[in-house]
Amino acid sequence: MTWIVLIIIILVLFGMSRGAISMAPWVPTRRKDFSRIDKLAKLKEGDNFVDVGCGTGSLLVYLAKKYPQTNFVGIEIAWPLFLITYSKKIFFGCQNIELKNRDFFKCDFSDYNKFFVYGLTRKAFSRLSQKIKKECDSGTKIISYTFSIADLNLIKKEKSGNNGVPINLYAI
Ligand SMILES: C[S@@+](CC[C@H](N)C(=O)[O-])C[C@H]1O[C@@H](n2cnc3c(N)ncnc32)[C@H](O)[C@@H]1O
Repeated sequence: MTWIVLIIIILVLFGMSRGAISMAPWVPTRRKDFSRIDKLAKLKEGDNFVDVGCGTGSLLVYLAKKYPQTNFVGIEIAWPLFLITYSKKIFFGCQNIELKNRDFFKCDFSDYNKFFVYGLTRKAFSRLSQKIKKECDSGTKIISYTFSIADLNLIKKEKSGNNGVPINLYAI
């Protein structure tokens, strides 16, 4: 019995480490900032919004419930987090969420017009912005929570109060 528990713990830790090695460990966006992201995203019917590295999918579920006519995609490399997001999608009945348990650098971005990203290394930011520029249409928006992306065109830097983290809106 102890062995089974140990093996499960090792498998979960291994699963979680994939995200940390690839780009960033799981640190969730603060729930109190969801409405700020919502305002910046200006979501409408037919938009394809993707959270690249969606973690446990809390932001996706929040937005998907509010905008049933918008398509949401969550890409998450760490299977334990993917499973949690998948359970939430089923539990809340969010049929407008599509989930992928994959490395987002290996996904086709050409269908997406709004991106949410949190917590990349500088190198990953650069790789991601090149990929978006190459695969997405002009006018595609990128919301970056907390971090700046040097090689994208900044449209708005939103900061709330003294303790609020910046949220940056970019476009290509
Ligand atoms: C800082 S967390 C952000 C989680 C979520 N977006 C949020 O705001 O709450 C970054 C997430 O990206 C995932 N991740 C890292 N590299 C990835 C990759 N190459 N492909 C897909 N997901 C990745 C990590 O496992 C982690 O869950």
